[in-house]
Amino acid sequence: MRIEIEDAVKKAVQELYRLELASPLEHPKQESFGDFASPAALEVARQTGSDPLEIASQLKLKLEDDLKDLIEEIQVEKPGFLNFWLKDQLLLEELGRIAKGADRYGSLDLGKGETIIIDYSAPNIAKRFGIGHLRSTVIGQALYNLYKFSGYKVVGDNHLGDWGTQFGAILRQVKSKNLNVKNLNVDKLEELYVDFHREAEQNPKRMEEAREWFLKLESGDKEAREIWQEVIDASKKEFDRIYALLGVGFDYAYGESFYEDKMPEVIAEVRKKGLVKKSDGAEIIEFPNLPPAILVKSDGATTYFTRDLATIKFRIEEWNPQTIIYEVGSDQKLHFQQVFETARKLGWADGREFVHVAHGLIRFAEGKLSTRRGQTVKLEDVLEEAIARAKKLTTASGGAPQNAGAGRNEDIARAVGVGALKYFDLSHQPQTDIIFEWEKLFLMEGNSAPYLQYTYARAKSVLAKAKTDNPLAMSHEPLASEAEAPLLRWLYRFPEVVQDAGRNYSPNLLCNYLFELAQRFNSFYAAAPILKAEENKDLRLALTSATAQVLKNGLTLLGIETLERL
Ligand code: ARG
Repeated sequence: MRIEIEDAVKKAVQELYRLELASPLEHPKQESFGDFASPAALEVARQTGSDPLEIASQLKLKLEDDLKDLIEEIQVEKPGFLNFWLKDQLLLEELGRIAKGADRYGSLDLGKGETIIIDYSAPNIAKRFGIGHLRSTVIGQALYNLYKFSGYKVVGDNHLGDWGTQFGAILRQVKSKNLNVKNLNVDKLEELYVDFHREAEQNPKRMEEAREWFLKLESGDKEAREIWQEVIDASKKEFDRIYALLGVGFDYAYGESFYEDKMPEVIAEVRKKGLVKKSDGAEIIEFPNLPPAILVKSDGATTYFTRDLATIKFRIEEWNPQTIIYEVGSDQKLHFQQVFETARKLGWADGREFVHVAHGLIRFAEGKLSTRRGQTVKLEDVLEEAIARAKKLTTASGGAPQNAGAGRNEDIARAVGVGALKYFDLSHQPQTDIIFEWEKLFLMEGNSAPYLQYTYARAKSVLAKAKTDNPLAMSHEPLASEAEAPLLRWLYRFPEVVQDAGRNYSPNLLCNYLFELAQRFNSFYAAAPILKAEENKDLRLALTSATAQVLKNGLTLLGIETLERL
C-alpha cells in the first residue's frame, strides 16, 4: 500500500507542478494523524515559493480522486502535511492476504534478477569462536534471509580466516614442542598462539621463525600443509557445532586459503595498472585520503588485504553480483575502505556496490561474565548459559506439559535460549556497541525473543481452542472497534518493514516492528474477548491468526524459532 500511495503522490506532484519529489511517505508517530503522512506540499512550497497549505489543498483534491479505492480520507495538517487514512475494507482484505500468503506473506519481488553476496561470520581458524563473531554471524544471516525473501539471488560466503602469518606461529609452536596435532582442539590451539606471543616478547627471533614457517606453508611444504589441514579440521569441528546450535548456514565457505593460488594474477593486474609503489622492499598501494595498504610484504608474503582483493575478483567472475555486503566489525573500517577503493581503481566496481555493514562491539558489564584469563569470551559458553537460563525460565512458568517428555523440554530451552541471545544482538542497530546484560535477553514484558515467542504461542493456543487456523469466512463486513483497530492498522506494514530492514542493513527495524506487533496483540487480547466474543468474533480470530503468521514470518527471517506451545 505504501508503494501505491507514494507513487500516486509523486505522480500528482509531477502533473500539477512539474517537480520530481524526493520526500518519502511516512507513518506519523501518532496514529491520530493517520496511517500515512506526506510532506510533499512542503517540498513543493520550498521549491516554488508558494503557500504550502494552498498546495496541500490542491494535492488533496487530486489524490482523493486518484486514490479513491485505497483512501478513506485525506486531511491537510499545518504547516502543510497531507495525512491519509486507509479504508477499513482494505485493511480487512489484508488479513485475507496474510492468510493466503501464509509463510510467504511479506515476501517481495525487488530483486529483478540481481545477486547480492553476503560475507558473514568468518571466524579465524585456531582461535576460539568468540562472542566477537556473534554479531557478524547473526546479523549476516538475518540480512541473507531478508534479501532472499525480498526476491534477490543471495550468496552467503563464510570467509574463514584460514590463512596468514598467524599460522606461522602455530606451526612453529607445534614443531618446536613436537606436539601431536591430532590431539589439539581450538582451546589448545589458541593457547599455543598466546604462548607464542609471550615467548616472542622475550625472544624476537621467534617472529623470524614463525615467518619462515608461514613462507614454507605458502610455498606448499608438505609437512606444513599437513599440520595446517589438521588445525583447520579441528577448528571447523567446533565452528560447525556452534553453527548447528545457532541454526546458521552458508552456501560456501571458501575461506582465505582458497585465494592463495589466485593472488599472483591479481597482484600482476594491480602492478600492470600502475597502482603499486615500492616501499622498503614491500609493494604498497597509496590513496589520496587513506593510509597505504600493503599488497606484498618485503619478505614476499601476501596479506589479508591481498586476499580480499582476490576474493572480490573471484566473486565477480563467479556470480556477477550487483552488491557485495561485508558484515564485519567496525574496527575493519579502514581495511574495507582500502579494499573497495582499490577495486574501484582497478575498474571492477562498474555498476556494483560494495558495502561494509560495520557492527559495534559487545561489551560485558564488569564482573558479570568473566573472560577467563583475560581471553575472548567463548560464544559456546554464552550459548550454554543462555540455554540453561531459558530452561529455568520455561520450567518455572509451567513449561511444556508434564507428559511432554524431557526431549521437548530441551528443545524448548534451546529455542528460547538461543533465540534470546540472537534477538538481543539483532534488536540493536548494527553500528552501536552493546552492553551485554543477561536480564535483557529474557525480558518477559519487553523487547526480547521470549516475549515474542510467548505471544506467538498465546495466539496459537487461542486458535487451537477455536479449532480454526484460518477464520476468514467472515459472515459480514465487520467494523473494527477501538480494541481491534490498532492491531489491524499495524499488521499490513510487515512487507514495508521487510523492505526497509534490508535496504538499511538493519534487522533491528524488523525487531522493533515485531515488538510493537506483540504489544498491540497483547493489549487487544486483554481488552477484547476472542473465543467468547459477542461481536466480531470472526474478525478477532482473523486478527489472532494474522498476528501469529506475521510473528512467525518475522522471527523466521531473524533466524529465530517459534514454538506452538510454551
Ligand atoms: N576473519 C576476519 C576476522 O575475524 C573477518 C573476515 C571478514 N571478511 C572479509 N572478507 N575480510 O577479523
